[in-house]
Amino acid sequence: KSDIITQVVQEPSRGMLIQLGAAIRNGKLVAIPTETVYGLGANGLDPEAMDRIYAAKGRPSDNPLILHVPDAESIKPLVLEVTKTAQKLMDAFWPGPLTITLPKSDLVPDRATGGLPRVALRCPDHAICHELLVAVGVPVAAPSANISGRPSPTTAEDVYHDMNGRIEYILDDGPCTIGVESTVVEVHDDAVTILRPGGITKEMLETVVAHVDYDPNLVTGKTVPKAPGMKYKHYAPDSPMITFVGDDRNVAEAIKQSLIESDTSLLDTQTKHSIRTVQSKIGLLLSQEVFELLGSDITDDKQYYCIVYGSSLDYVALAHSFYKSLLLFNEAGVTRILAQGVLSEGIGVAIMNRMEKASNKHVIYV
Ligand code: TXA
Ligand code: MG
Repeated sequence: KSDIITQVVQEPSRGMLIQLGAAIRNGKLVAIPTETVYGLGANGLDPEAMDRIYAAKGRPSDNPLILHVPDAESIKPLVLEVTKTAQKLMDAFWPGPLTITLPKSDLVPDRATGGLPRVALRCPDHAICHELLVAVGVPVAAPSANISGRPSPTTAEDVYHDMNGRIEYILDDGPCTIGVESTVVEVHDDAVTILRPGGITKEMLETVVAHVDYDPNLVTGKTVPKAPGMKYKHYAPDSPMITFVGDDRNVAEAIKQSLIESDTSLLDTQTKHSIRTVQSKIGLLLSQEVFELLGSDITDDKQYYCIVYGSSLDYVALAHSFYKSLLLFNEAGVTRILAQGVLSEGIGVAIMNRMEKASNKHVIYV
């Protein structure tokens, strides 16, 4: 319906980055690479430009945006005060996957914060993104560059799939290194509250701040989350998903069992012939260990689309592959997903937060 032509930019020259910077300043939408996921960037001081972000994503407009800056110095005009704790956090973790919220100054439009009194700020650890942010010269509002509710994009191709015809430019710098979004924390005098778990873990934050807690909603799911975005169904693949967590042997057994059960339930109601025609693929997201334990009966069967992310101890590898795997399953048109999760430790907290949502809380501990 729109007449926007989306241009993909690779290996940008300095001149091109300056051009993209001007485009953002002038109200255009540019997808930008970061170390976590691709962002959908717009001028963070221009309410109309930010309206276009909400329109392109189909995102509820009460959900505030993160303002991206090239360095800690740049937050000064955007906040009432750079507190000691905020300074410590920035010294320790910027550039990097940590977003801090602080009481906003009048310079920050309500459009950026969804009317909240705090603004979310982040300085990505990504060379080209940094150069672009310098070229823009104003803070860049950037949510993840996916259609609202879909898995976040970790490659420029994923961005293109969702945003072609909706935004002016995609700056392609290959796959994101981390693969899950930044940790979001609310900063208090000598304490922080984790609103969204991410690449910077609770343990890491505890090395610089005396008191670190999770927003009670993250633990109980019973109160209203302080990061408005956390209340929405997020990161959902197109088909139902179950996540299994536990010892590799138990996970392999549980997945086998689940596959047998789904087979017999079809057998009960249909003739063998109709199974062949209606049955489509099941997606399996597995560690190398569980892949091997399942055996070639399953892993060679064309009915199963297996993605192996790495060793079951390699949480970083799972974080890196998770969203991409969901998108590959969507593309393959799988009817069900069975995935291996991890313990909620370290970056496992961030991974399981996403896996729980993708599975609609269908997580089975075995
Ligand atoms: O890694 C990331 O953070 C990526 C990349 C592109 O930087 N961005 C990202 O943005 O994940 P988004 O919009 O998809 O998620 C931002 C989260 C939402 O849950 C939002 O509700 C929360 O941060 N948030 C933003 N501003 C806030 C504020 N002032 N107070 C509380 N939560 C806020
Ligand atoms: Mg998002």
